[in-house]
Amino acid sequence: MKLLEGKVCLITGTAAHHSIGAATARLFAAHGAQLVLADISAAPEARSDLLTLACDVTRPEDCSAAVATGVETFGRIDAVVHCAGIVEASGLLDIGADDFDRMVAVNLKGSFNLCQAVLPQMVKQGSGAIALLASLAAQRGGGLVGGAHYAAAKGGVLSLARTIAREFGPNGVRANAICPGMTRTGMIDGVADEDINRIAAEIPLRRLGTPEDVAGACLFLASDLSAFVNGVTLDVNGGFHIH
Ligand SMILES: NC(=O)c1ccc[n+]([C@@H]2O[C@H](COP(=O)([O-])OP(=O)(O)OC[C@H]3O[C@@H](n4cnc5c(N)ncnc54)[C@H](O)[C@@H]3O)[C@@H](O)[C@H]2O)c1
Repeated sequence: MKLLEGKVCLITGTAAHHSIGAATARLFAAHGAQLVLADISAAPEARSDLLTLACDVTRPEDCSAAVATGVETFGRIDAVVHCAGIVEASGLLDIGADDFDRMVAVNLKGSFNLCQAVLPQMVKQGSGAIALLASLAAQRGGGLVGGAHYAAAKGGVLSLARTIAREFGPNGVRANAICPGMTRTGMIDGVADEDINRIAAEIPLRRLGTPEDVAGACLFLASDLSAFVNGVTLDVNGGFHIH
């Protein structure tokens, strides 16, 4: 069964090869979605069922342009999955003001910019589903990879998703957050094998997540399978953080 037939889905953070966004785009395409893919490093491309756009989510005008072009091309935006993000491993005392600003600008303000750009369209449609990628770092007090600035920005993303769920639920718009645990993408490239093995041994399912694991959660939240799911935080961590 194709879960996204007839739906237009905007996904950010899709350019990096092994990213969660790229896996989500593949899964959504297999489920029949028309896709608008937006990434700071994207090479623009247009096909009948796919539009790829360069978009820096820290720039409100880029987010508005991505939404406007998507609507011009496909007529509507049914779902947004916001995967664009950056991480940095630093102790709190080593985080400079610029580091903090950059982490918040991409991870938190980028989420806000994208939501602010797409919500008027979803309100007009009377429907929409938004899934924001947060992180286990927001829940456990710091990341295995990300520092305090990353964890704090992702905590803000959880609050943003909940606020949208409450404010725009009456308009038929759902918003939810996803908290992946450590997932095998370019984001963990710098982590030593022995650290990865140690962490995997502590996860009840005894492995790290894959981009496809997280894409499955994105599919659930973007599709009508989750029609009455609004304001939740969906953990995708193999049971590493059970609460
Ligand atoms: N990989 C993990 O272990 C992990 C764990 C928890 C949460 N997450 C979150 O999941 C999301 C996806 O992460 P990933 O592992 O796929 O990362 P990734 O580094 O593989 O991909 C991130 C993508 O975001 C894009 N991007 C970066 N800055 C951007 C900007 N300003 N505007 C537009 N695009 C931008 C990059 O070009 C890249 O394609 C992120 O929000 C990340 O914080 C990842």
